[in-house]
Amino acid sequence: MNVEYGPLAGGDAARCAELEAQLFDGDDPWPERAFLAELAAKHNYYAAARVDDKVVGYAGIARLGRVKPYEYEVHTIGVDPAYQGHGIGRQLLHRLFEFAEGGTIFLEVRTDNAAAIALYESEGFERIGFRKRYYRVSGADAYTMKRERR
Ligand SMILES: CC(C)(COP(=O)(O)OP(=O)(O)OC[C@H]1O[C@@H](n2cnc3c(N)ncnc32)[C@H](O)[C@@H]1OP(=O)(O)O)[C@@H](O)C(=O)NCCC(=O)NCCS
Repeated sequence: MNVEYGPLAGGDAARCAELEAQLFDGDDPWPERAFLAELAAKHNYYAAARVDDKVVGYAGIARLGRVKPYEYEVHTIGVDPAYQGHGIGRQLLHRLFEFAEGGTIFLEVRTDNAAAIALYESEGFERIGFRKRYYRVSGADAYTMKRERR
């Protein structure tokens, strides 16, 4: 399978919203306009994974603060269910790491999301906190995870 990685563009927002609805059903999936707003925001970086020009995965990160060393926050990551388990999520995360080079990275993940937690732990993230009912719609709990700058 030939997967191409590159920046996500405004024209991909509708497709990303479609994937979100599949991946985060019941947990406030982002609509197209949310992706457009994220893409327009300064200090954000969004990566896309494409197969035959179709977006099959996306991931985004925000840079926080104005002075170095910066901190970063992963905002979202998702892979089309038909393409999961082929290393695409890991590759997308690596694209975010390139953007965040030299900075500490934080994220929140549902405590029951074993796949994502395994991915993050294998990439150097550690659990540093627990946020009760972090996800508004489902009321699910989250771990805060942190990857030290390197
Ligand atoms: C989390 C997600 C992005 C991973 O993407 P992916 O392309 O399937 O993941 P990869 O193939 O790159 O796998 C990377 C690692 O994740 C973990 N992982 C992936 N799928 C897993 C599963 N079903 N069970 C346990 N661990 C799993 C493994 O550690 C894996 O490494 P390995 O293959 O060396 O064992 C994807 O499952 C997804 O889109 N989930 C729904 C959306 C979501 O939960 N996003 C995260 C919100 S915080």
